[in-house]
Amino acid sequence: MSKYLVRGGLPLAGKITVHGAKNSILPVLAASLLNQTGEQIRLKKVPSLYDVRAMISILTGLGAQVERDGEDLLLQTANVDCYHVPEALMREMRSSIFLMGPLLGRLGRARLCYPGGCKIGLRPINLHLEGLRTLGAVIEVDEKEGYIEAWGRPRGGEVDLDYPSVGATENLILAAVTAHGDTVIRNAACEPEIVDLQNFLNILGAKVEGAGSPVIKVKGVSGLHGGSYNVFPDRIVAGTFLLAAAITRGSVTVEGVIPDHLKALLRLLDQAGASVKVAGSAVTVSADRLKAVSRVETKPYPGFPTDLQPPLVACLTLARGTSTMIEHVFKERFHHVSELRKMGAQITVRGRQAVINGVAVLNGAAVTAADLRAGAALVLAALAAKGESNILEIHHIERGYERLPEALRSLGARIFRVEGVREEAVF
Ligand code: EPZ
Repeated sequence: MSKYLVRGGLPLAGKITVHGAKNSILPVLAASLLNQTGEQIRLKKVPSLYDVRAMISILTGLGAQVERDGEDLLLQTANVDCYHVPEALMREMRSSIFLMGPLLGRLGRARLCYPGGCKIGLRPINLHLEGLRTLGAVIEVDEKEGYIEAWGRPRGGEVDLDYPSVGATENLILAAVTAHGDTVIRNAACEPEIVDLQNFLNILGAKVEGAGSPVIKVKGVSGLHGGSYNVFPDRIVAGTFLLAAAITRGSVTVEGVIPDHLKALLRLLDQAGASVKVAGSAVTVSADRLKAVSRVETKPYPGFPTDLQPPLVACLTLARGTSTMIEHVFKERFHHVSELRKMGAQITVRGRQAVINGVAVLNGAAVTAADLRAGAALVLAALAAKGESNILEIHHIERGYERLPEALRSLGARIFRVEGVREEAVF
């Protein structure tokens, strides 16, 4: 079983460039199904992540050809003719649900099972199904088998989302791109990844506008063609590195980012007494011991991102004073808390609220990652802790962070990936 071995206590220092956004690449890969021509799609600088490989396996299973060309991916989707997404892959990765939109747009048919993914709380897909039905899809759900069968080429329509769901917004845009007629999506999610998807689709000949605002309009077109695209830098990975600087009382510059995407985090770090400097596409955070933050609430963009809640909680365990975190997006997203307590953190959770009493020191321990961002929180805590930590179930972390130990070592951290008995390096 692979694990991370961490010896904490050193302040991180240096510059690092972040990779392309996982949560952009996945819907962009799904969108490639809408290109029926033989023209190639080139996606630049695609990180080597577990979820990306899983989505590529799904696309090739549907008839696409996908090749790596250095950091880039080359996609050929002319021969896509299968609408059935294999169960094993579907259960692995929640994002596969947004294959429904492009499969209906491309083949007028989709067969999938209920998506799996991180155990961060109930993750219903009612908004996806209701929206697709509004765009003309006939959908049958076999609760017993956990299968979803959908028919019918989308037609334009008006969808009012009850909640600005990221995935539902993406799925509906993808269904609307080649629909007969025009579509309006209201109360849409405003995350940067939606803007990224719009930019990609429009390069391939789609007519999508309004992404980044609550109202998105899509003019249906007959089909898409090839093109080349570079997704946005990963704002969650960037935020994780900046929080790593804060918790270790170091100074780190993330380069090649879009500072606007990090506003909620930078405002909060400033409130907690860290020094925050923005220069073009580089952001530097330097910190001594943080001050507690009276109240932080996770919200849809541009609110504080739920994906940075676990790493921030890890930081607040060592802050001076008591902080309160309210998790509005995913009710059960506190799987990191029990593990942080093993390192000496003082955190009380009641429902969606965590109260964090800052302590002076954390101690290394053996801890287990329960999901992607909870895992990132444990890595940060271990980097700041006294002594050695073993972090288990790292496959969760590798779903969203590319070669994390190497990246952190380039900032002076002592962290190693250990396979079974073979030690990658000794302290
Ligand atoms: C996306 O998930 C991200 N995943 C998540 O990142 C992120 O946490 C989330 O958006 C919120 O920002 C990807 O982009 C692949 P939602 P998604 O639909 O689309 C409820 C990570 O760590 N809801 O906006 O699944 C839902 O239960 C991952 O990288 C419904 O009720 O998020 C949740 O409470 C984790 N019905 C809320 O909306 C629906 O049909 C937000 O979900 C859909 C969602």
